[in-house]
Amino acid sequence: VSDSPLRVVEVAVEPPYAVRIGPGALARLEPDVERLGLRPVALLSDARVFELHGARLGALASLPVHLAPRGEEGKSFAALEALLEHLASVGADRGACLVTLGGGSLSDLGGLAASLYARGIDVVHAPTTLLAQVDASVGGKTAINLRAAKNLAGTVHQPRTVLADTDTLATLSADELRSGLGEVVKTALVGGESELSLIEERAPALVDGDASALARATAACVRVKARIVAADPLERGRRRELNLGHTFAHAIERAAGYGVIPHGHAVATGVSLALACARELGKLEEPELPERIDALLRALGLSPTWTELAERWDARLEPDRVLDAVALDKKGRASEPSLVLPRGAGRIELDVRPGRDFVAAFLRRQAGATA
Ligand SMILES: NC(=O)c1ccc[n+]([C@@H]2O[C@H](COP(=O)([O-])OP(=O)(O)OC[C@H]3O[C@@H](n4cnc5c(N)ncnc54)[C@H](O)[C@@H]3O)[C@@H](O)[C@H]2O)c1
Ligand SMILES: [Zn+2]
Repeated sequence: VSDSPLRVVEVAVEPPYAVRIGPGALARLEPDVERLGLRPVALLSDARVFELHGARLGALASLPVHLAPRGEEGKSFAALEALLEHLASVGADRGACLVTLGGGSLSDLGGLAASLYARGIDVVHAPTTLLAQVDASVGGKTAINLRAAKNLAGTVHQPRTVLADTDTLATLSADELRSGLGEVVKTALVGGESELSLIEERAPALVDGDASALARATAACVRVKARIVAADPLERGRRRELNLGHTFAHAIERAAGYGVIPHGHAVATGVSLALACARELGKLEEPELPERIDALLRALGLSPTWTELAERWDARLEPDRVLDAVALDKKGRASEPSLVLPRGAGRIELDVRPGRDFVAAFLRRQAGATA
C-alpha cells in the first residue's frame, strides 16, 4: 500500500506508534493492524459517524459494533459499563483490540474501556473530527465525566496506531470544524513561530475546510503534541503546556453550562485571555503577539473576546461565576488559581499564581471590554 499522500508522525512512547494523517488514511487501518499483530474484536462508534463513515473501515466495518451515545453523553459510567459488557459479550480476551471511530468523546471513552478491560487491551483510534485528529486521539489521555468536573475519572492508555482520515472532516458542520481550529491555534502557539506562521498563511483555506491545508496543519500540530507527550507522557511537568488557554476555557464552559459553548471555541477565547493576562503581568516578551493571535482567531471564524463569545453562543457569562470555576482545582475544591501563560510563541510558563484578587479584577475588565 502506498503511503505517499499521507503524513506520518511517530509518537515515541513505549511502545511507539504512528499517526497517519491525510485523505484516505483509513485504508491503512487493516494493513496497520495486521503489521502490528493486533487482534481487533470490536468497534466503538456512534450512530451518526458509523452511518457517515463506517464503510471507510473496509472489512473492519463488520466487526461487532457498539454504538455509544453521541458527544459528551458518551462519557458516562453508564456508557462505559455498556461498552465493557460489549467487550465481554464478544469474548474479548487480553490479546484483543478495540477500534474507535468518532470524535474525541469516543476516543476518550474507548481508551478508558480498553485500559480497564482485562487490565488493559489494545486500542486503535480512527478520529473523525478535527479536534480529535489534532488533539484527543493522540497522547493516550482517556476519561469520562463526573458530576464535580469533566474528565475527572480517567487513565493514560496510549493507542497502538492512529489513522486521521481527513476525508471524514467533509461532513463536519462549520462550527465543529472551527472548534478544532481553536485547538490548532493553541497547539501552534505552544509549538512556536514556524507552526504559527504555517497556520496564519493557510487560515483562509483552513476555515474553508480545504483538505490539504487541514492535513498540513494537523500534521504540524500532532508533531508538536507528539514531541511533548514523548517527553512527559504522564503530565508530570511540561505536558501541561498543552493546557494553554484551558483554565479560562473550562471555567467559561462550566459557567455557561456544559454544552452551550463548544470546547474549541472556548479554547480560542481562553488563549486570547491568557495572552492578555500575560501582558498585564508583564510576562509577554513579544508585545504584538496578542493582536496577532486575535487576528488569526478572527480569520478562522473564532471569537477572541469575552463579549463576542458570549453573544455568539447566547451565553450568560458572569465574571464572578467564571472566577469561581477558575479557582476550582481538579477535585472541585476552591484553591488559588494556577495559570498556564504564554511569554511568546513556543515559550509557555506553567503554574503562574497571580492571586485570586488579580484574576477577579482581570476577568471583570475582560467582561466589560468591547471588541
Ligand atoms: N484525551 C485528550 O487528550 C483530549 C483532548 C482534547 C479533547 N478531548 C475530549 O474530546 C471531546 C470533544 O471531542 P470532539 O470535539 O471531537 O466532539 P465529540 O466527540 O463530542 O463529537 C461531537 C459530535 O460530532 C459528531 N461527529 C463526529 N465526527 C463527525 C463527522 N466526521 N461528521 C459529522 N459529524 C461527526 C458526533 O456524532 C458527535 O455528535 C471532549 O469530551 C474533550 O474532553 C480529549
Ligand atoms: Zn482542549
